[in-house]
Amino acid sequence: MSSVIHTRIAGTGKYRADGVLTNHDLEKMVDTNDTWIRERTGIRERRIALPGVYTSTMASAALKEALDAAGMQPGALDMIICGTVTPDMPLPATAAFVQRQIGASGNCPSFDISAACAGFIYGLSIADAFIRTGKIRTAAVIGTEMLTRFMDFEDRNTCVLFGDGAGAVVVTADHDGRGILSTHLFTDGSLTDILQIPGGGSKEPASAETVAQKRHCIQMEGREVFKVAVRYLSEAAETALSTNGKKPEDVQLVAAHQANMRILSAVSKRVSIPIERFALNLESYGNTSSASIPISLDEAVRAGRVNDNDLVLMIALGGGISWGSALIRW
Ligand code: ACO
Repeated sequence: MSSVIHTRIAGTGKYRADGVLTNHDLEKMVDTNDTWIRERTGIRERRIALPGVYTSTMASAALKEALDAAGMQPGALDMIICGTVTPDMPLPATAAFVQRQIGASGNCPSFDISAACAGFIYGLSIADAFIRTGKIRTAAVIGTEMLTRFMDFEDRNTCVLFGDGAGAVVVTADHDGRGILSTHLFTDGSLTDILQIPGGGSKEPASAETVAQKRHCIQMEGREVFKVAVRYLSEAAETALSTNGKKPEDVQLVAAHQANMRILSAVSKRVSIPIERFALNLESYGNTSSASIPISLDEAVRAGRVNDNDLVLMIALGGGISWGSALIRW
């Protein structure tokens, strides 16, 4: 037992949305086809939350599973962080709703992180900093997104890509040398224009006009995002490994943000980690933004793919452009 504090993942959980939208369903909605979507993205179907389910209720369900897995009660939480760009509403934070829904302590600071698909890694890094400095002991980090409610289902460039869902981890202070070894966060603000929800904020306040023009829906220059994603995700993975003196072959599992199979295949080749080591679920979930890492991590953990002392690498990139990596000794 060392005096050095590490942040260990004590439990994982997820919310799998109940509705399913297949590529064949989309063929009836926009000018697209199953072959194009599968070959260009790797997606076969995506999950859609049913009416009455919100970003916070998905997050709470995922967090309850993570608390159960950790053998903890909501009262153990000192902080709740939600990575989301699709909150229940602009004010208050989705995390505040989660606090109430799960019955955590009213003294538990609860706030959202806006880093798009990198929101979960940003949240993990913040929780890690609070835990390692001894300010808190235990935190919930959640990625929760309901992108289908910010989608123009007449825009084939975006509507075939995204799905709904939430994933959560409970992290806690540990002294046996395992846990988060490092996190690295990056933002390139010169690329704000290539991935946006332009309307509904202070720049373009919601009006009949912004709604008619679907300015509250996600807009993306897919080709540009693709190019930077391959480069920045690979660099973030390499930074995580070199910082810790690790080699690609040391990594047992990669929990990567899943936007496109071709991005992940290219990253896998660049960083020399076989794609078989990636926890993949893009085919059936679509791009769930900040939720994709904690959902795929939870599935890998429950499938018995992660063992004590395994090295787990996380990488994500999204709007901002914001990206990052985390390396964890499980
Ligand atoms: N069905 C059929 N054809 C389509 C579709 C569709 N759904 N969408 C586009 N096309 C057409 C285009 O119009 C174009 O036709 P043209 O050649 O006649 O002009 C052709 O297919 C090729 O279009 P590209 O945009 O070049 O296709 P690309 O191979 O780049 O794939 C995609 C597009 C899937 C969006 C890809 O660029 C991508 O995955 N980008 C990254 C997305 C991403 O990483 N997002 C992460 C962040 S998300 C977040 O932060 C919330």
